[in-house]
Amino acid sequence: MSHLLSVADLGVQGIEEILRLTDSFVEVTERAIPKVPALRGKTVVSLFYEDSTRTRLSFETAAKRLGADTMTFSVGTSSVKKGESLRDTVQTIEAMGVDAIVVRHASAGVPWQIARWASSVIVNAGDGWHEHPTQALLDCYTIRQRLGSLQGRRIAIVGDIKHSRVARSDVLAFTMLGAEVVLVAPPTLLPPSLEGWPVTVEHDLDQTLSKVDVVYLLRMQLERQREALLPSLREYTARYGLTPRRAEHLGPDAIVMHPGPMNRGVEIAAEVADLPNAVMVDQVRNGVAVRMAVLFQLLGSGTQLEGVDRG
Ligand code: ASP
Ligand code: CP
Repeated sequence: MSHLLSVADLGVQGIEEILRLTDSFVEVTERAIPKVPALRGKTVVSLFYEDSTRTRLSFETAAKRLGADTMTFSVGTSSVKKGESLRDTVQTIEAMGVDAIVVRHASAGVPWQIARWASSVIVNAGDGWHEHPTQALLDCYTIRQRLGSLQGRRIAIVGDIKHSRVARSDVLAFTMLGAEVVLVAPPTLLPPSLEGWPVTVEHDLDQTLSKVDVVYLLRMQLERQREALLPSLREYTARYGLTPRRAEHLGPDAIVMHPGPMNRGVEIAAEVADLPNAVMVDQVRNGVAVRMAVLFQLLGSGTQLEGVDRG
């Protein structure tokens, strides 16, 4: 693997390798000093053209826990504000000597474009509506941790699927690992065509909840919506929000997931987000170990670490 751009590039074997490696890094993150010197001398830069809390901080934490140096780029305080192009920005950053660029951008395909220009390793941290591969990896890891396996599991992804890169990467990864995915959304929040998506569609959340092992909620991605797709958020919540009453339909072992950031009171009620079967905190915690595994896989060739098995 020379870059991580898409879940599709990883394939089942690639996903399995990262998840196996993640087990070793979970163990590292639980140590009193959660660090290993696997990437000492390497530099990882986060090049984020869109806002982020979890992805950026967890990549930076992951890099530091592997002994790498980190650089952070925030568009709002950079020379992009003075008109510098993406290509010149990438060239400038590379000239300082970096080994990996973790990129998030509002336009689909930007990580591929950068991979053509740059000689560093490129990691896609979210490109427009298109993909968010490390989110899918940490979601698979979290489901396995809670439910043992994805094989034969039924997963409902609920909400603004049309604008969600998380949904696109998750559908690929979940189905590659043997899960069945059902999308639950009003027609206006589904992609115009689902041709080639290995999913079924439901419009009634109440009927779906009792039949699934995982309910995966999505935020209304208003920053990407260019027209009024819903009568109102209140009406959306009434039909598709995971309220405490609806959550009672879930089976005793079913889990509630969300990539974050949550809008409590819209797609998920505040009380539901804090239930013991809501695993959002686990998702974030696992995100650090998954990103350590990804960085180690991409940059750690030739590095032997005691207790870290490449799978
Ligand atoms: N944080 C995720 C993303 O960047 C999901 C979201 O923002 O709703 O795609
Ligand atoms: N889940 C996720 O990508 O969160 P951030 O947008 O906060 O990075």
